[in-house]
Amino acid sequence: MSTTTVKQLTGEERFRNIISHAKEYGFIFQSSEIYDGLSAVYDYGQMGVELKKNLREYWWKAMVQLNENIVGIDAAIFMHPTTWKASGHVDAFNDPLIDNKDSKKRYRADVLIEDHVAKIEGKINKEVEKARARFADFDEAMFRSTNARVLENQQKIDQINTLFKDAMEANDLEGVRQLIIDLEITCAVSGTRNWTDVRQFNLMFSTQLGSVTEDSSTIYLRPETAQGIFVNFLNVQKTGRMKIPFGIAQTGKAFRNEIVARQFIFRMREFEQMEMQFFVKPGTELDWYEQWKATRMAWHRSLGFPESRYRFHDHIKLAHYANAACDIEFEFPFGFKELEGIHSRTDFDLRNHEQFSGRKQQYFDPEENENYIPYVVETSIGLDRLFLATLSEAYTEEVLEDGSTRTVLRIPAFLAPYKVAVLPLVKKDGLPEKARDIMNRLKLDHLCLYEEKDSIGKRYRRMDAIGTPLCVTVDHQTLEDGMVTVRDRDTMVQERIAIESLAAKLQDKVSLQRQLLCLI
Ligand code: GAP
Repeated sequence: MSTTTVKQLTGEERFRNIISHAKEYGFIFQSSEIYDGLSAVYDYGQMGVELKKNLREYWWKAMVQLNENIVGIDAAIFMHPTTWKASGHVDAFNDPLIDNKDSKKRYRADVLIEDHVAKIEGKINKEVEKARARFADFDEAMFRSTNARVLENQQKIDQINTLFKDAMEANDLEGVRQLIIDLEITCAVSGTRNWTDVRQFNLMFSTQLGSVTEDSSTIYLRPETAQGIFVNFLNVQKTGRMKIPFGIAQTGKAFRNEIVARQFIFRMREFEQMEMQFFVKPGTELDWYEQWKATRMAWHRSLGFPESRYRFHDHIKLAHYANAACDIEFEFPFGFKELEGIHSRTDFDLRNHEQFSGRKQQYFDPEENENYIPYVVETSIGLDRLFLATLSEAYTEEVLEDGSTRTVLRIPAFLAPYKVAVLPLVKKDGLPEKARDIMNRLKLDHLCLYEEKDSIGKRYRRMDAIGTPLCVTVDHQTLEDGMVTVRDRDTMVQERIAIESLAAKLQDKVSLQRQLLCLI
């Protein structure tokens, strides 16, 4: 086996390379690119759609197939407008915005402040790195708690965070503007501090239902899939004879008019969520919350990425409807960011739907012999963020023993877009026909790729670049002894095996069942 070295890239280089790789190999394209694109909207290409489908399927099977008390639905994107009044989105789903009067550029006030804090954090990190390089027996915790410059900067950060949090809690938008001015934050385009007032901006997209001239009414593109689950709670409970505790899962598009759209598919205006609402008896919700935290973290870890890439971030300031909440954060190339949210949402949503619709949203508990509005624990993950996490972790640039380089996507084999490539060594002598014959045997069970163009080495590199776990090469010897070469994407090891053993070998390599077994 040849030895390889993984190229060390900075987070920024890595992220840039991942974005261009995603485009070059048909994973992600900018939306309507021929018209110069649409900001924060992306299309999934021929490879991307497969990886996304496989990620969605893994989530769905882990949630619905492995749990007898969870069922799925597929609610419409459009919902009655009162839904969003009841959920609180019409009144409170806002971002604070501020414009620079000189450049006319619009910013999210909280992001301006966050970026300022990040700069101060950068200074602290530099101090730490300098000291680490200087002292062999460096103790980071000790250094952070004693170094004067670090302490001073940490104090600044704490003070800014408190001022911002207090102003937002009091809906004191003038206070937020004053903080931006006091911190001397400038516009990145004009370089000036000529700021407008801060105002709240609702993130929901609206449109008209029906003809505009006649009885049209304003409806919204859903900003979360969860409400489709809440309004169907009793439909599912009754028709499915579900007993509490039980869950309803759903995957689907959600839409938010994000003002600061950046970091590729991390923050999009149209994205996909995979959500599950778990309905429980009041008083038991915090136990279930802990259980779902552990279950979801175990699911993430089952993907096989390093444990150090994940952490919980508990919400200190809770939304008014929650009595516990946390994020599962993932270390993207641009740092730790939210990948999934787990929220104990109390009975807020069902109670409000009961009030706004005038229809009871209660469950009769036969064991307790009483009616109640269930409490809800929600798990909510963005499929596009999961896709980005997978791509970020899989993307590897390697220098091989002979000095050549290869880019390989080490996507977990069961998630790979194509599971196997079948490659005739040359385009003649009956090899393509034999390869097609093998392909026909495998393609009933797996997505396979047939490729005869270019040298075999180039084809292997291309398969590495799209993350195909196995390549099967058909050569002249195959016609005589019925054996093929199987090459492994990760190790590049090649072995000769009989065509009859191929299906079993492939199934073993990409088995979703074995993966699911780890979760039971
Ligand atoms: N129902 C709860 C809810 O929607 P959220 O924290 O606003 O909670 C849940 O969103 C998840 O949806 C996030 O953890 C993230 O993965 C994903 N998400 C949210 N906004 C997104 C955006 N603009 N682009 C991509 N994913 C997004």
